[in-house]
Amino acid sequence: MTKKTPNAERPQEDPNAEEDRVRIFDTSLRDGEQAPGFSMNRAQKLRLAHALSDLGVDVIEAGFPQASPDDFEAVAQIARNLRGTTICGLSRCLAGDIETTARALEPAPSARIHLFLSTSPLHREFKLGMSKQQVIDATANAVRRARELCDEVEFSAEDALRTERDFLTEVFSVAVEAGANTLNAPDTVGYTTPTEVADLFTWLRANVRGAGDVVFSAHCHDDLGMAVANSLAAISAGARQVECTINGIGERAGNAALEEIVMALRVRAPLYGIDTRIDARKLYPTSRLLAQLTGQVLPRNKAVVGENAFAHESGIHQHGMLKHRGTYEIMQAEDVGFPKSQLVLGKHSGRHALRQRLEELGHEVDEPSLERVFADFKALADRKNEIFDGDLEALVLGLDPDHPGPWRIEHLHAATHLGGSASVSVKLVHEDGRTVSEAAIGDGPVDAVVRAVERATGESLPLADFHIRAVSEGGDAQGQAVIEVNHTNRQWHGHGYSTDIVEAAALAALDVANAIARESRKPASAPSPKVASL
Ligand code: KIV
Ligand code: ZN
Repeated sequence: MTKKTPNAERPQEDPNAEEDRVRIFDTSLRDGEQAPGFSMNRAQKLRLAHALSDLGVDVIEAGFPQASPDDFEAVAQIARNLRGTTICGLSRCLAGDIETTARALEPAPSARIHLFLSTSPLHREFKLGMSKQQVIDATANAVRRARELCDEVEFSAEDALRTERDFLTEVFSVAVEAGANTLNAPDTVGYTTPTEVADLFTWLRANVRGAGDVVFSAHCHDDLGMAVANSLAAISAGARQVECTINGIGERAGNAALEEIVMALRVRAPLYGIDTRIDARKLYPTSRLLAQLTGQVLPRNKAVVGENAFAHESGIHQHGMLKHRGTYEIMQAEDVGFPKSQLVLGKHSGRHALRQRLEELGHEVDEPSLERVFADFKALADRKNEIFDGDLEALVLGLDPDHPGPWRIEHLHAATHLGGSASVSVKLVHEDGRTVSEAAIGDGPVDAVVRAVERATGESLPLADFHIRAVSEGGDAQGQAVIEVNHTNRQWHGHGYSTDIVEAAALAALDVANAIARESRKPASAPSPKVASL
């Protein structure tokens, strides 16, 4: 492999010369996506990557290329398509991993290889079976190799917060000497507290050799609910990068929530005295996009982006708010991109009103997408008197122009029977022109519809989870059906929207069957065997 110059379009970062700001390293597509329930297909990953770039994150960790051919391709596709944001790939400290990661990142104008190796006594003994010296040697060799292939290299000492301080300092010093430009100290198991984090970062900045030449980074998990507080403590102690995810998704209890860190720094600006480059008005739309792509509904009381985050129900609060907003409000809904009102559209509304409302909701759509949304909007307006914001979001977020088919539903009939059983018949059309009609009986309409789709497409869809929720208001509200299926040792999920819940379930089942069908016809271009997840 030749030395690449992935960062050629951008001047090299000199952490000392840069304005003092906190870099936001988003790992929704790696640490977030690897958590159960949050998997995304390639088109969805690319869509989220564009939204993250528009949001203004500094680094997008797009995946772990060595993990599987699909992960490799997802990272490569993001590297090919995004401009203006550094694209990062995770890699173990192994030559093969590093080379695969560099290949996946090759098209990115600005790229970073993110190396990780466990340093804590528990991980050294039971996970790696490596001595301290072996960890030091592996770090030095890996960082050197990565620097031959990429100008930006981040080194993470996995389980850093449970690592002996002197040893951690030595490993980080060796990483800097070998060429790392970012040092990340992850609280891998979410064990630590803000005071301890601040103390560690202060120590590292004072004791790591070459500390002045690198950016220190925090990566906090939320097992004890302290990920955001710990990230802020690290910033107070001089960390200039934080690793976080939209909505706080991630392994186990999740990672630090990006929107919470960003707004804490902004609302408490006099206290922290440092900011990020995030466009906060895009926080809410990005949060909604991720929730929709993964089919996971946010708790209403989620900080910053939950539906109740700016709702004031109690009479006393409302009274106070009318006198002075500041009585019960520390930030305003508009600051984070909440739409101003629940404007209702109907079948007489035109393209202009639709576009304007979509823009107010934070969705900028190009002409062809607007045409498609408008056609779907008109069809929906024929079935439903009033179109609410939730309906519009469902239409625009449901657009998946890259991946139609191969199957679509032409006809669906469902009948439920007293006692719980149901029968469903479907007629599906394949993009090659075939038409298949099948019927199935099940324990209720959802079971029957999934079985009918299984029979018609020939894909097995063992159900792991199913839920449905109303996306707007009223008895004629659209439902979003989300289906999770375990197939070929992987978790797949699909969603479907309709004012008819059986149709929504059928569309969700077909969404999964289509994804499986597309996957199975891909050419096998395996860069490496699948490795265990981290
Ligand atoms: O939590 C962790 O330690 C990680 C590393 C791979 C950075 O995710
Ligand atoms: Zn992590």
